[in-house]
Amino acid sequence: MAELLDLHPAPADLERLVREGMARQPRQLPAWLLYDAEGSRLFEAIGQQPEYGLTRQETALLRKEAAELARSLAKGITPSPVLVEFGAGNLSKVGPLLEALQPAAYVALDISLDQLGPACSALQKRHPSIPVLGICCDYADLDQLPPHPLLEGRPRLGFYPGSSLGNFDPPQAMALLSRFARLLGPSSRLLIGIDQPKAQERLEAAYDDAAGVSAAFAFNLLQRLNRDLGGDFDPAAFTYRARWEAAASRVAMALVSRHTQTVTLAGRRWTFTADEPLITEYSVKYTPEAFEDLAVASGWRAIRRWCDGADDLSLHLLAQAESGASPPASETQDPIQHHADPDPMRRAP
Ligand code: AVI
Repeated sequence: MAELLDLHPAPADLERLVREGMARQPRQLPAWLLYDAEGSRLFEAIGQQPEYGLTRQETALLRKEAAELARSLAKGITPSPVLVEFGAGNLSKVGPLLEALQPAAYVALDISLDQLGPACSALQKRHPSIPVLGICCDYADLDQLPPHPLLEGRPRLGFYPGSSLGNFDPPQAMALLSRFARLLGPSSRLLIGIDQPKAQERLEAAYDDAAGVSAAFAFNLLQRLNRDLGGDFDPAAFTYRARWEAAASRVAMALVSRHTQTVTLAGRRWTFTADEPLITEYSVKYTPEAFEDLAVASGWRAIRRWCDGADDLSLHLLAQAESGASPPASETQDPIQHHADPDPMRRAP
């Protein structure tokens, strides 16, 4: 049986976050609210839609490169690290890394306890020699990893697949990468999956698939708000929209009010005008150069990048930028000039 810690935000924190989000212009709620039990199930179904290639492509890339990745890591990180996955979901991506790396332990952080508990137990059965610890939390709001014997005295390798960084706007993404640096400690590494900009039609189809699963994922947020936060949203009074916003290099997903209406939520009344969006999520896409600039501005240095055949997405391996220390030559590949500029489209000169 895998061990589980529950650090889920308290209901009062949830109310505060929702009120803050509803007071923003445009209104925007934290993306992690999408992941209740039904939302987690729907997100898995999105990964199986033909239009949404990210999950399949990244999984294939991880399988293909796991051994090489483990070799790259072994050069710079000893003894065998603790693998810490942020936003681990149903733990479907970590298998190849566990096999290639044989980490000292695996720690999975995710907001959905319903999903994390069973997924950790199943993984523990498949990998009986690697201790598994699940932590239910909002990892973007965590100041430190909880004290635990599995986390002591070992370097840490962070794993953040799925381009989930894109669900934060660039300044928040910088803050999150800096937070990961603090959570993981000075000699850590971070392996992170990042989706890249591509044609507008492809991106809009990926986030508004023909089977309507992406739309159902967004609408499920209203059900959750009605159930957990005293909301009285009428889903029929909204339409779903996913638009590529080229200037910000992001897909904006929203539920758009069909007409003027007033809803109750978190103990308050909120008026939507006709066509007013409630942003459910942004998904920022970064070129490899723009991502590496962001990483450097957040206290990391780029070690290597692996990409899929079509160069649609990348896995970036980062190390902490220890002051004054230069990376071992064996670790470095294709040095790039870096600039502290969190613009997702900017290219390094
Ligand atoms: C989790 N995250 C990276 C997904 C994305 O691609 O931005 C969430 C998602 N929302 C709708 N489709 C996928």
